[in-house]
Amino acid sequence: TRRVRTRDLLAAKERGDRWAMLTSYDQYTAALFDTSGIPVLLVGDSAANNVFGYETTLPVTTDELLPLVRAVVRATKTALIVADLPFGSYEEGPVQALRTAVRFMKEGGAHAVKLEGGRRTAEQIRAIVGAGIPVMGHVGFTPQSEHTLGGYRVQGRGSAAEEVVADARAVAEAGAFSVVLEMVPGEVAKQVTKELAVPTVGIGAGPDTDAQVLVWQDMAGLRGGKAPRFVKRYADLAGVLGDAARRYADEVRSGEFPAAEHTF
Ligand code: KIV
Ligand code: NA
Repeated sequence: TRRVRTRDLLAAKERGDRWAMLTSYDQYTAALFDTSGIPVLLVGDSAANNVFGYETTLPVTTDELLPLVRAVVRATKTALIVADLPFGSYEEGPVQALRTAVRFMKEGGAHAVKLEGGRRTAEQIRAIVGAGIPVMGHVGFTPQSEHTLGGYRVQGRGSAAEEVVADARAVAEAGAFSVVLEMVPGEVAKQVTKELAVPTVGIGAGPDTDAQVLVWQDMAGLRGGKAPRFVKRYADLAGVLGDAARRYADEVRSGEFPAAEHTF
């Protein structure tokens, strides 16, 4: 087996084959997903919320994300590893964006990077692609701009559809190999997917994108509380792990653990 390449994803689109992407931030999930039919793993800046416990994605830094990228790369053999550029690491312009992307490739060992924004970050995408680094775009709802967008809201409803289309187009024209469409109406995602030669990856974008992505803790039910409408829970890890911790604590209190077989 060999690593998935960006051209494999283009070929999949040409064949009409759909694929699934998940986030991963550590070696165990990375190794499991790598051998469970997930061809692309994203070390998302969603680590801000899902690993580091920040309220938003804004505080997380390149220095915090790099060790997670290294762990995911080391633990996998076939998945293509995409590293997310965090807020503040590319907005200043193409030079800053390229410098950050190079760190994720060189120090992180990533195979591609992802950054948010359409027309507003096309110059950054062009510079990174020009240096030989594959870029995944991200348009529609972009969590790093939640304070401008007014919170987690669907983007591209009604006449705003053209904005999303123009952003996706700009990302593709700048040379991105793929683009995430987050929280956009299914019809808009379908239109963008038809128009672009490169694969679209939907999250809250309906069934007609070329691929789907979810945050793994959402998909596996590790995160408590109400999940967004676009999440499907495939497991109840919060239940399983909470139960394991409770039983362990009970058995320590009762003296049932450790037993003779755990004792030297
Ligand atoms: O950081 C992240 O998890 C993401 C995906 C949800 C696309 O950007
Ligand atoms: Na992200």
